[in-house]
Amino acid sequence: MNQQTETVLNYHNRTKHSLERYAKAPESIDWEDQPDQFRHFSGCEIITLPKPGTELEALFADLDNPERIPKKPLNLSHAGLLLELAFGLSAWKQFGPSRWALRCNPSSGNLHPTEAYLIGTGEDFIEPGVYHYVSHDHSLERRCRFSDNLADAGILIGLSSVHWREAWKYGERAFRYCQHDIGHALGALRYAAAALGWTVELQAQWSDHDIAKLLGLDRDDFKKEEHEFPDIICRIHTQSEMSPLDLKALLDAAQSGTWFGKADSLRAYHMYKWPVIDEVSIAASKPQTEEPEWLAVRRPLIESSCTQTASQIIRQRRSAQQFDGKMAPLPQTDFYRMLSAVLPTAAAFELWRWPPKIHLFVFVHRVEGLDPGIYALPRHYDALESLQAATLPGFDWQKTSEALPLYHLYSGDCRKVAKTLSCHQPIAGDSAFSLGMVAEFGETIAEKPWLYRRLFWECGLIGQTLYLEAEAAGVRGTGIGCYFDDSVHEILGIKDDKFQSLYHFTVGKPREDNRMETLPAYGHLKS
Ligand SMILES: Cc1cc2nc3c(=O)[nH]c(=O)nc-3n(C[C@H](O)[C@H](O)[C@H](O)COP(=O)(O)O)c2cc1C
Repeated sequence: MNQQTETVLNYHNRTKHSLERYAKAPESIDWEDQPDQFRHFSGCEIITLPKPGTELEALFADLDNPERIPKKPLNLSHAGLLLELAFGLSAWKQFGPSRWALRCNPSSGNLHPTEAYLIGTGEDFIEPGVYHYVSHDHSLERRCRFSDNLADAGILIGLSSVHWREAWKYGERAFRYCQHDIGHALGALRYAAAALGWTVELQAQWSDHDIAKLLGLDRDDFKKEEHEFPDIICRIHTQSEMSPLDLKALLDAAQSGTWFGKADSLRAYHMYKWPVIDEVSIAASKPQTEEPEWLAVRRPLIESSCTQTASQIIRQRRSAQQFDGKMAPLPQTDFYRMLSAVLPTAAAFELWRWPPKIHLFVFVHRVEGLDPGIYALPRHYDALESLQAATLPGFDWQKTSEALPLYHLYSGDCRKVAKTLSCHQPIAGDSAFSLGMVAEFGETIAEKPWLYRRLFWECGLIGQTLYLEAEAAGVRGTGIGCYFDDSVHEILGIKDDKFQSLYHFTVGKPREDNRMETLPAYGHLKS
């Protein structure tokens, strides 16, 4: 095992929560001193994006076949809509004197470590350069003006993480949550693009080093502890035929461009330090790679009954904080639809160009026509045998559906178990179903430690799909990052690190907290 993989494995093991102890985190939190959720770069030109809130006509159900959605022209309004529907505000919540923003992309603890950048290469609607998206103001800050004349390759979106924002509350485990959030943000970007008739191409070959160069993250413009770490570059296909992207020319343009602004400090002082996060960030940083051209054959999904537009569903997405534990069973077709939407054969996963490494173990509590109990959804047929071999010999692995690779493993009431496993959170047991996302782990990261992050991204992408599918089915979901890792493994019979559970999720009928007021997303902007 190489040194970096060892560092990653050590990080993973020491940040497990267990029934006996939680991963290391601050002993106390001063909410008054929370890092600023909205990064600003002082000294940049601001480009105000057209007024947010426009509805798009594409229905959520149309997103199953996104190629049938007419492509919107690339202009400032539509680029703004892409950013808004992916990373913009969706509402404000108020409870007593506290007021906080929610966004289209969810985030563990609503801390939002993810930052988004738009890179323009042509001169059609914005000067070529790098722009930081400020979701609070729905505006762009121009960080770089490219000096070279680039071939017009449309727009790209870059994502990075401020680990500190998350570590401030969650301590050592925060690096995992930052990765989940990147996966959610990628999913949010895909759905926003699809609603505009566009597609997202993950530029997976890029090294983190080059992403940092392009986004200006390697510059001396950040307070040391508040650095942004490069994660992802995506190219947005806004037309059927796009000219090829010249990576070297793009990097040269950024290198020789004129840069503006300095990142404002997110917080006055930093009380706790989490050096393991810096260590794992370095150990899991990605070199330039050649990536395979894998693509699953698209299969039709079980039809969605949703008649709302995609933009409505995206803006109404929320995490349920409580569920109605006495809900009528979830219709079986809705359950099957949600599961079919997270298979690699679904349109939402076309941007994910690798065979799936994440499989679902589902605790069914209240689903019409299904015995309560544990079920498995291997997301790739090749994983079936090894999942069977790695889990309890008593599981019966009976296929339950013609339409899906869903297997019944065990019958029994798992509500209490699910709740206990998810750090005693009632949302895991009061729902229609909750689930653990189990990764093909040890072998995946053995030679390529940066794939540790990609495993979490895949979980986040699945989570984002479930969030939106739950809304579309008239129920609601919640991501669960807090769970007792090895207790989950024990319940399933997993004994070593061949498989590891990396994320949980729960879906049910939400109970609204009427004490909370909901305010419009962009009521604070001058019209
Ligand atoms: C990676 C991740 C982990 C999360 N873990 C939990 C959790 O353990 N418990 C919980 O109640 N909510 C959890 N959430 C939900 C967040 O608290 C929620 O996304 C955030 O408060 C923003 O609210 P919204 O999703 O309604 O926009 C998680 C969300 C994400 C993305």
